Amino acid sequence: MPSLSQAYRGHPVHVFHHKHPDFNSIQKLPESYTWSNDHDHTTTTTTSNCSVPVIDLSDPNASKLIGHACKTWGAFQVVNHGVPLSLLDDMNWVGHTLFSLPSHQKLKAARSPDGVSGYGLARISSFFPKLMWSEGFTIVGSPVDHFRQLWPQDYAKYCDIVVQYDETMKKLAGNLMSLMLEPLGITKEDLKWAGKKGQFKKANCAAMQLNSYPSCPDPDRAMGLAPHTDSTLLTILHQNDISGLQVQQEGTPGWVTVPPLPGALVVNVGDLLHILSNGSYPSVLHRVVVNRIRQRFSVAYLYGPPPNAEICPHAKLVGPTQPPLYRSVTWNEYLGTKAKYFNKALSSVRLRASSINGLFDVNETHHHKSTVQVG
Ligand code: OGA
Ligand code: NI
Repeated sequence: MPSLSQAYRGHPVHVFHHKHPDFNSIQKLPESYTWSNDHDHTTTTTTSNCSVPVIDLSDPNASKLIGHACKTWGAFQVVNHGVPLSLLDDMNWVGHTLFSLPSHQKLKAARSPDGVSGYGLARISSFFPKLMWSEGFTIVGSPVDHFRQLWPQDYAKYCDIVVQYDETMKKLAGNLMSLMLEPLGITKEDLKWAGKKGQFKKANCAAMQLNSYPSCPDPDRAMGLAPHTDSTLLTILHQNDISGLQVQQEGTPGWVTVPPLPGALVVNVGDLLHILSNGSYPSVLHRVVVNRIRQRFSVAYLYGPPPNAEICPHAKLVGPTQPPLYRSVTWNEYLGTKAKYFNKALSSVRLRASSINGLFDVNETHHHKSTVQVG
């Protein structure tokens, strides 16, 4: 079975290698970073009572609330999730320290053209004509080789934090999977790839994405991270204390800010859980906007199945009146589809397209075609 990094490597996303700017020294937004004047800022809602639900994982009703959030938003925040705040702080410190290194040092750990791990532009950059006001560092497998380049003396302490974060988030992701599946009538035992005891343990794979969004001289015309859905089962995001993450609710125009809450984690439904749920959980379209004052850091934990497990609408959700909406795909194959079609990847694996030409027009939910409008 290929590892996740082999799966990613098999589907390189061709990112044109720009010289990374020193964001802090730029006084005026360069043309190459200028998206538009008005990327829908006017329709953005910012009050927390109309944003994604905040769910207390110690609430006996948590699963029911999560099911509702997944159906209506494809996203929610969790508190009382059991992840020590000190670990979130430590991981934030890793990101902060990493992105504060001088450019030439960071470039020693640059993502290679056919690789996935390392420092570089957002993976989705190749699909947009403009550059995003952000830097990223992707970790798949052990970060030790790259961290040794960045911190020749004390890389071990940074690696230890990443390993601990991985173990802790993997457990939380397994628990969240159970809580998200329960409202659909699916148990862990119903999923062959969830492992013998349905623990979602060994078999599942994950990647980590550290993001930095420097303060920006012209935030209304820049884009931190362009609209996308995640190619995961679910994503757990720690966004620290600065806002920037926005989501779109299916069927509702405009962007809604997901306000940072101390210690809370944001959970996104990804494309694979959307498929598994036979469309009842939308994979949430999200983006990141930047601000003039403060640099923002985030850590995304991208959680998926074993790379070669077949993911399809679950048998319990399919019947004579509920035809399967998607064909079966492996994560490995889906990453390839995403690398080719990006936000149209889901429609490309959707069933009942009447013709190849119509493939991307059939039954498309609003958000999977909205990407290119920005920019
Ligand atoms: C991502 C992502 C959001 C953020 O890395 O896929 O959506 O707030 N990040 O950085
Ligand atoms: Ni994302």
